[in-house]
Formats: sequence, C-alpha cells, structure tokens
Amino acid sequence: MSTNNSNQKRQAPKSAKKIANPEGPLTVFTPGIGAVSTTFMAGVELIRKGLREPVGSLTQMATIRLGKRTEKRNPLIKDFVPLADLGNLRFAGWDIFGGTAFDAASKAGVLGRDDLELVRPFLSSVDVMPAVFEQKYVKRLKPKIVKKGKSKMDLAEQLREDIRATMRRHGSKRAVMAWCGSTEVYIEEQEVHRNLKNFEKGLAKNDPHIAPSMIYAYAALKEGIPFANGAPNLTVDVPAMNELSKMQKLPIAGKDFKTGQTLLKTVLAPMLKARMLGLNGWFSANILGNQDGEVLDEPGSFKTKEVSKLSVLEHILQPNLYPDLYSDYYHKIRINYYPPRGDDKESWDNIDIFGWLGYPMQIKVNFLCRDSILAAPVLLDLVLFLDLAKRAGLSGIQEWLSFYFKSPMCAPDLYPEHDLFIQMTKLKNYLRFLMGEELITHLGVEYYSEDSATSKGRRRP
Ligand SMILES: NC(=O)c1ccc[n+]([C@@H]2O[C@H](COP(=O)([O-])OP(=O)(O)OC[C@H]3O[C@@H](n4cnc5c(N)ncnc54)[C@H](O)[C@@H]3O)[C@@H](O)[C@H]2O)c1
Repeated sequence: MSTNNSNQKRQAPKSAKKIANPEGPLTVFTPGIGAVSTTFMAGVELIRKGLREPVGSLTQMATIRLGKRTEKRNPLIKDFVPLADLGNLRFAGWDIFGGTAFDAASKAGVLGRDDLELVRPFLSSVDVMPAVFEQKYVKRLKPKIVKKGKSKMDLAEQLREDIRATMRRHGSKRAVMAWCGSTEVYIEEQEVHRNLKNFEKGLAKNDPHIAPSMIYAYAALKEGIPFANGAPNLTVDVPAMNELSKMQKLPIAGKDFKTGQTLLKTVLAPMLKARMLGLNGWFSANILGNQDGEVLDEPGSFKTKEVSKLSVLEHILQPNLYPDLYSDYYHKIRINYYPPRGDDKESWDNIDIFGWLGYPMQIKVNFLCRDSILAAPVLLDLVLFLDLAKRAGLSGIQEWLSFYFKSPMCAPDLYPEHDLFIQMTKLKNYLRFLMGEELITHLGVEYYSEDSATSKGRRRP
C-alpha cells in the first residue's frame, strides 16, 4: 500500500471554498470609540508604518502547519488565506462623546504620549459619528452627542446612511462592524428577539427590549456587513439576528473579547480536567480603573459581564460527566472599579483543587495585564477573519472564531467550546478546510505504527 492510500484514510475536505480576493479598502466600523478601538486603530497605523510589531495577532504572526510534520510546510496564516492587507484598512465609528479618535485615545491613556504623537494626524482623521444611545442601557455614562429619531427603526436608517456615506468616502466596497461600545445592562431574550418579523415590528414600535447595540447590528447586516460583538451584551446572540445574517449571507460572531483573566481560566481549567484533578472553588477578583471599569461598577452592566465570565468553567469541566470532581465547586467573580489603575488591570485567582485521595492543594494566579493591549489584536483578527468569511460565502454564527470570545455564540442545540486549545485547533482546521488542505487530527505516529504490521515501509508522519 502506498503513502497516498494511507492518506485517504484521513479525513480530507473535498474541495476548497471559492474565496473572492480582498481587493480595495476595507472599512472597519466600531460603535464605541474608546480604549479598545483606539488602541487597535493606533496599533494598525504604527504597524503598517513599520514602527511596531503586531504582537498578539494570529493573522499577522502565527503559522499554520499543513500536511504531515515531515513535509515542513508551515506558512504564515496571512500567506495561506487571502486576508485584507493592513494597508487597506479604513476606520470609522460612533460615540456619545464626540471629539476625535485622538481625543478618545488620549483620554483612555493606554498608549504612551510618544506613540500617540506618532499617529496623531491619522487618529484625528478618523470619523466619529453621533451615537445611537439609550441611557437605561449604560447608566454610568452621560452622553454629549446622540442621534434623535422618531423610532428605533428611524435610528437604524440613520446609521445605515452613516455607513453608506462613510464607505463612499473611503471608496470601499467591503466593511466589518465590531461592537466596541460599553457593556449594556443585562437583558434576556424576549418575544421581540425571536424572529426578524417581530424584531422589525419592535424597531418600528420602539420596543424597550431592543438595545442600542442591536440597532447597530441590524443596520450593519442590512447594509451587507458582517458583525462581531466584543462585549457580553445579547446583541446578535438572538434568533432574529441569526435569521437576518443567514438571509443576508453574512457571518456574525460574539460575544465578549477573551482577554486577561478569562484567557487564563480557559487554559487552566482544561488542564485540571485533562489530569482529572478536582475543584472545590475558584475565586476571581479584579481591579481596573478605566471607563470600562466605571461602567461595570453599575450592577446591571456588571451582571452582563458576570454571566459571560461565569459560563466558562461549567462548560469546560462538564460536572454532569464528572460529578465526583466538579459537581460542587464554588465560583465567584468580583470586578472592582479602582481609578488609579487605569487600563492596567490586575486580577487574582485563588483556585482550590484536590488530587489523589482527595488531598487539597491551591493555585494562585496574579495577572498584571493591560486590558486593551490584549484586546486590540483580538479585534484585528476578528475583522480580518470576518471579512474572509464573507468573501468565502459563510453566513450565520462562526463557531470557528470561538477562540476570541469569553462567551462564544453557538447553534441553539450545541454547547459552546471554551477550551483555548480546542478552539485554536478548530480555528486552524477551519482555515485548512477553507483552502482545501487536509485537516490535522493529531493521530500521528501511533496511527501509522498500528498499520505498519500489515503494510511495510510506510512513511511515518
Ligand atoms: N479591554 C478588554 O480587554 C475587553 C475585554 C472584553 C470585552 N471588552 C468590552 O469591550 C468594550 C469596550 O471596552 P473599552 O475598554 O474600550 O471601553 P471604553 O469605555 O473605553 O469604550 C467604550 C466606548 O463606547 C461608548 N459607547 C457606549 N455606548 C455607546 C453607544 N450606544 N454607541 C456608541 N458608543 C457607545 C462609550 O462612550 C465609550 O467611549 C466594553 O464593553 C468592554 O466590556 C473589553
């Protein structure tokens, strides 16, 4: 039997997807011109000027293995899949404070003065348009410039006009929208979110359960633009938006960028489960002093974030399958607003675990991170991958992008995948699938050794 025959045993996608080329400018719309979005914009500009490296971005720095290990094919992801070039990105957004993106970046205080001065003309030229805002959804912020409209549908129409005008100005035929606005107060799915018909009726009748973030998402999808949700708000995680995205043949993704503490949690918890170590308790505390922290200090917005952060352990540890290890752990999350820290968040995790014969042990984690420095490359990757997904004809929820989210959206009959390394395998396999490359199963040497008794001379992968 030849090596080729043995390869046929592996799962191989039949054909590559047809993917249109990423020609011309790509406009990135961000509702919310705050710490994350301005750190992202400034970073892209510094990187494309050759002044900084895109650290933290898979699309810019990571490689992807193709074929067998012996083939030594490890191209950069950006050389493997046709992604938009950073030089072609254009930016625009909406905020309640007016001013320029330079003003917002200065206020956010993430990047140093020297870095900001290098991109001052660029950031000052980014369009910041008046926002669609409703005070009850973000109680801690007092808006300066907001749109007025007869109904929520009217506000959606105004956003659509903003989108069209901006894209005309940028000369772009493609765009992606990513919610980088504040975390809205907690709401649950209602009748108005159940299907598109109800939702559009709700927009016309000013239904109170339609949050501003949903109006932006609706406007984007109606304009043929993919949408990602960087916050834990419901936004596109409702059937009406899923229906619209499929109808418009557009990809959507969310929710809540996976950065700091949750990033660590989705690495440590799989380790506990992989080694069948039990868990008695996990206490997560945070202090942060940026505007996001101020918004999250309000109980309604905190609840939205808390639900997003809490869901992680349950899905990774699967207490239903491992009741002796995980059915009775205590999980607590605290987020404390502490102004002196600004964007330099600090998190502490105290993890009480148990091992052989039930003997207790402890793990302590203290992460001194920078929130927006971790979030900016996530946003960049999502923008580029969603644009790719649209050009590849993908629509609806993009589970292969779960890697980037604290609370990944998934089909209603599935549960979300939280384990960072399963998420990464899924993402890379999806890229291989899109390009018609063999999926990597990591079956490896043992798979081949087993067969080698009957087929001599087969090459090991
Ligand atoms: N930084 C991280 O690591 C991280 C991680 C996960 C999620 N997030 C989420 O990303 C979002 C942005 O974070 P940030 O640190 O940039 O916050 P930020 O407060 O600096 O920026 C958010 C901006 O959104 C604006 N805004 C609020 N409602 C709006 C509306 N309806 N329309 C337009 N603009 C609106 C605010 O005025 C503010 O300028 C937050 O929801 C945050 O929870 C951040």
